[in-house]
Amino acid sequence: MGRSNVWETVTVLLAVGLAPMLAMAADPDALQDFCVADKSGAFNINGFPCKPTAMVTVDDFKFAGLKNPGNTTNANKASVTSATVVQFPGLNTLGISAVRIDYAKGGINPPHTHPRATELLVLLKGQLYVGFVSSVGANNTLFATILNEGEAFVFPKGLVHFQLNVCKGPAVAFAALSSQNPGVQQVAPALFQPDIKDEVLEKAFRIDQSTVDMIQKKFRV
Ligand SMILES: *[C@@H]1O[C@H](CO)[C@@H](O)[C@H](O)[C@H]1NC(C)=O
Ligand SMILES: *[C@@H]1O[C@H](CO)[C@@H](O)[C@H](O)[C@H]1NC(C)=O
Repeated sequence: MGRSNVWETVTVLLAVGLAPMLAMAADPDALQDFCVADKSGAFNINGFPCKPTAMVTVDDFKFAGLKNPGNTTNANKASVTSATVVQFPGLNTLGISAVRIDYAKGGINPPHTHPRATELLVLLKGQLYVGFVSSVGANNTLFATILNEGEAFVFPKGLVHFQLNVCKGPAVAFAALSSQNPGVQQVAPALFQPDIKDEVLEKAFRIDQSTVDMIQKKFRV
């Protein structure tokens, strides 16, 4: 075998060998019908232990926490109400969760990522400018559009995305996420709220120290 053939063979073997791992890149499949989280459990193994089946009732599969609008009196003029396994123990091991997002006029859900979930958002009321930034070709291609009532948009797992309310009144959306524990990381606070050495931010953003300090002050809690 020539050198390039060896590499082709190695690449194919790696691709075939890694395929099952890639297929497990979402929450793992459950080994039982359900596993309502027992949050009082003393240990966690990639999720919560299960409440004994005999003690499970229909109420474990119902969650009323998304009924009411969130409080949008804040800097973003928006509020995300979560129904992940943390708030809704019945989701444990099921690989799914939901959020309700309320936006006042001009409200924003600022650029953020969910490290473990794809998000499928449905706009119930209002009009949003939504988008995500792709890493394809490492050129940060923007996929952004206007979303109208009843329309849906999908934010692929792990990518930076946002929503801005562009209608004259409030807006409300619901979204499903492909993990019981999607996680969330806000881009601006992740970089400017911890005390990352100024020089890192100056060089990363190509700005001077006073600009770094000015932005850091806005996110310091
Ligand atoms: C909404 O949040 C603001 C700011 O924290 C607070 O002053 C206000 O009382 C809250 N409103 C309600 C209805 O909880
Ligand atoms: C960026 O990536 C997209 C998708 O791969 C590609 O179509 C486009 O030509 C790229 N643009 C540049 C400037 O490289």
